[in-house]
Amino acid sequence: MENKFYVTTPIYYVNDVPHIGHVYTTVAADILARYNRLRGRKVFFLTGTDEHGQKVEKAAKDKGLSPKEHADLMVENFKKLWVKLNIKYDAFIRTTDIEHKEVVKQVLQELYNKGEIEKRLYSGWYCVPDERFWTEKEVEEGKCPDCKRPVEKITEENYFFLMSKYQERLIKYIEDNPYYILPETRRNEVLGFLKNNVLGDLCISRPKQRLAWGVPLPFDDNFVTYVWFDALTNYYSATKYLAPDSDIWWPADHHLIGKDILTTHAIYWSAMLMALDLPLPGNIFAHGWWTIEGKKMSKSLGNVVDPHDIAERFGSDAFRYFLFREVTFGLDGDFSEHAITQRFNTDLANDLGNLLSRSLTMVEKYRDGIIPSPVEEQDREELEKKVKARFQGSEENLFSKIDNHFKYLEFHNILALIWSVINDVNEYIQNAAPWKEEDQDTLSNILYTFVESIRLIAIALFPFMPDTAQKIYNQLSLEGDISKLDLNKHANWGILRPGQKISKGPALFPRIDIKKKV
Ligand code: MSP
Repeated sequence: MENKFYVTTPIYYVNDVPHIGHVYTTVAADILARYNRLRGRKVFFLTGTDEHGQKVEKAAKDKGLSPKEHADLMVENFKKLWVKLNIKYDAFIRTTDIEHKEVVKQVLQELYNKGEIEKRLYSGWYCVPDERFWTEKEVEEGKCPDCKRPVEKITEENYFFLMSKYQERLIKYIEDNPYYILPETRRNEVLGFLKNNVLGDLCISRPKQRLAWGVPLPFDDNFVTYVWFDALTNYYSATKYLAPDSDIWWPADHHLIGKDILTTHAIYWSAMLMALDLPLPGNIFAHGWWTIEGKKMSKSLGNVVDPHDIAERFGSDAFRYFLFREVTFGLDGDFSEHAITQRFNTDLANDLGNLLSRSLTMVEKYRDGIIPSPVEEQDREELEKKVKARFQGSEENLFSKIDNHFKYLEFHNILALIWSVINDVNEYIQNAAPWKEEDQDTLSNILYTFVESIRLIAIALFPFMPDTAQKIYNQLSLEGDISKLDLNKHANWGILRPGQKISKGPALFPRIDIKKKV
């Protein structure tokens, strides 16, 4: 269906509390969902938790809880944080949901019936934290090539998904569909891997005596399903019981993930879908990783940033803004108190906050707070034309450029673009110098240009900074919920009705004193 938009985040392990990595993907999905709702699309935004497997079983045991009791507690941490960060997901999936487990079983049974799953004696090097086998060749000096922790030699019977036979099809599909894996560097990585290695089959079971916490295989009760097989299926199972109109959603438009889980998505999941004769998602986007103050984030270094705390101190919008302005989506980035404070004071307090407060102060001062009528014939001013041109007509206008950037998830470019408009309007205020203007019609035009520009900037900002956009809207005395706007209608010049009284509020972003520890 053309007009639907389905976006997912990874489902997060419940063995730990949420950190900046979880926040990053989830806010990205929220931005996309909000934008597409504004565009009038029917949106399904899915997030959730990955609750089976050894890691979770172990975390629960350490706390003396059953895995489900432990998961029930941990899920709340995610849900609370998403409220705090203004994440408006449409559904929250938990892999312990009965309906999800049923779909996992159906999928397994179907693949088994089709001869896509086989039982074999298998001997390999097993990495407990990563819950996966490695071959002799892959192991590096007794350590997992991925997480560098020691591996154990295990020989046991297991079930395998015959993934190897999809190698050529995967290569062809990824080559034929350049949009399938983004950014391009990640796509090349996957292609390189597929072309230079022999793709193995995927072990999709774990004997129950070793791991009890999982979905039992429908065709052999002595085994549970490998956690990644169970987890990846969530993207499909959710459409069957958590989405309205279950038939319209699959395939997803975007799976947003971190770069570390690209193989499981680009290779395992794609091959699973091929084997099931289901269409592949439109795009898998792998973003980069955050370091903290230049260092890898780790519990042992004690530098894990608590997202709740950052949102509390800087505000949820400033946090969201920082994450998507500071770093190109797709590249690695560094989080530091200094950098977020800098962005806060410069971009938010100075550029955006001042634009709003200066403009509204002038409307109060020169027009008693009433939005003036623009005077058509006066619309000759070069300066004014330049500002208006950024919102109007051609392909070059802000909203058509934004639309294009959204297609490739170039969030940083969108924010840079919005800030270039903010700076243009600030410059216009300086050059138009309303405080010197004597002609009343010209003054009305100037003031109208300020406030109408601000209204359009608020709309453009909404997916990124929903609270701020709504506050700006309220200060312009525009009633209603900005999330309900129709971009096609409202993202045009001249919609702001003259005659309304503005209601200037407190500063949006009161400066943070750098010397004072915030
Ligand atoms: N449960 C699996 C995903 C299954 S999806 C079918 C999982 N969960 S996770 O909780 O460990 O990781 C979730 C996400 O956090 C991953 O996308 C990972 O890339 C991301 N990040 C973890 N640390 C990160 C940073 N330091 N920076 C950015 N993202 C990081 O994997």
